[in-house]
Amino acid sequence: MIRNAWYALGFSAELSTGGLQGHQIAGHPIVAWRTEGGDVVALDARCAHKRFPLWDGRLLDGDRLECAYHGFCYDPTGRCVGIPALVERSQRIPETARQRAFPVVEQDGLVWIWTGDPERRGDDRPPRTPELDDAGWETLVTEPMEVAANYRLLIENLFDLTHFYPLHNGNIGSLADAKVPVEIERDLSGPAPVLRTIRRRHDFVLPPMTRDRFGLEVADQLQVHEMIAPSLFRVRIAVAPPGQLGTDAEQSFVLHQTITPVSADRHIWRRATSCPAGARWAADPTRSLVQAIFEGAPTVIEQDRWAIERQQAMFAYPDDGYREVHIKTDGAVVMARRILDEMERSDGAHLDAALQSPAQTRMQPNRRLADLR
Ligand code: FES
Ligand SMILES: [Fe+2]
Repeated sequence: MIRNAWYALGFSAELSTGGLQGHQIAGHPIVAWRTEGGDVVALDARCAHKRFPLWDGRLLDGDRLECAYHGFCYDPTGRCVGIPALVERSQRIPETARQRAFPVVEQDGLVWIWTGDPERRGDDRPPRTPELDDAGWETLVTEPMEVAANYRLLIENLFDLTHFYPLHNGNIGSLADAKVPVEIERDLSGPAPVLRTIRRRHDFVLPPMTRDRFGLEVADQLQVHEMIAPSLFRVRIAVAPPGQLGTDAEQSFVLHQTITPVSADRHIWRRATSCPAGARWAADPTRSLVQAIFEGAPTVIEQDRWAIERQQAMFAYPDDGYREVHIKTDGAVVMARRILDEMERSDGAHLDAALQSPAQTRMQPNRRLADLR
C-alpha cells in the first residue's frame, strides 16, 4: 500500500455530528467524528491506556471522546483531558496520554485523511472533485462498498474497457468496446500523478443500457478515464448524435470513485454520479438523467466486484511459474501499475524523474499484487 497519500474517509454526508465511526485505512485503525463545531476529527483508535478501540467509546458534549474501558477522555486534538482513576490531587495526566491525530481536509463534498508521514504532506491538498459541490450539477452517491480485493484491482478494472465484453455484455458493454482504440496521457507534475485514457467513437451502435439512458441508437461518444493516484478515479462520458459532440445536443455524466485501501486484500469503494442539473432521462423525461444512470449502476457494480474479488482469491496460490500475459490494450493498466509501484517505492517523493528514467521503469507487473499480500 502507498503510505503517503490522501485517502477518502467518506462523503461529507457520511459524517454527521454526535456519533463515532470506526475505520481502517491503509492498515491504521482510526476513530472519526464530527464535532459540534462541524470539524471532522480522526484519531488513532487504539486508546493510549490499554489499546481498547476508541470507536466503541462515546462522545461527551459532542466534542470529547470517552474510552469505554477505563474512561480516559480525549479532546479533538487527541490530548487526554480526563482520567477518572486519578483520585489524588497530586496525580497528573501523563503527557504521553495522547492519541495521534491524522490531518483531515473536507472539500467538494468529501472528507480526506492523510495517514502517512506528517513531514511528507507538506502543502499538498487532496484532489478536487468540483462537480460534487456545484449547483450546476446533480449528484447521487452510492453507499460505500467494502470489496475483498487489493485496491489496485479496482483501479485496473476502471481503466480496462476490454472487460465490457463479456463481463458487462448486454448492459453497458458490447464486443465493440473491446476494440476501441485508446489514447493514453499522463501528468506526473503534481503531487498526485495522473494517468488518463481517452476513447473516441464515431457512429457507434450504443449497447442497451447506454441507448436507454441517452435515447440514441447510434452516437458519437467520448470517454475519459482518469486516475488521480492512488485514491481517486474520475470518469467522464459524453454522448451525442453523430457529429454533434461539444454542441447543445451533447449529454454527459461524471463519475467520481474513491478507492481507500483497508488492508492488502480489502478496500472501500465509493461512487458519486453527477449529471448537469436539469438533464432528463430520454426514456422518461419526467425523471432526471442522474437518477436513471444511478439506478442502472448496481448491476454493473456487482459484476465488477464479482470479477475483482475472484481475481484476488487466486493470489492465494503460489505463482509457481505463473505469469500474466498482457496484450496491447492492457497498456493503461501496465502504466498504472508502473506509477503505483513507483509511488510505493519512492514513499511519496516526486515521481517525475523516476518515471522518466527507463532504468527505473522496468517492472514485474505479474508479481506486484502477490508481493503486497
Ligand atoms: S483502555 Fe482506554 S481507558 Fe483504559
Ligand atoms: Fe466494469
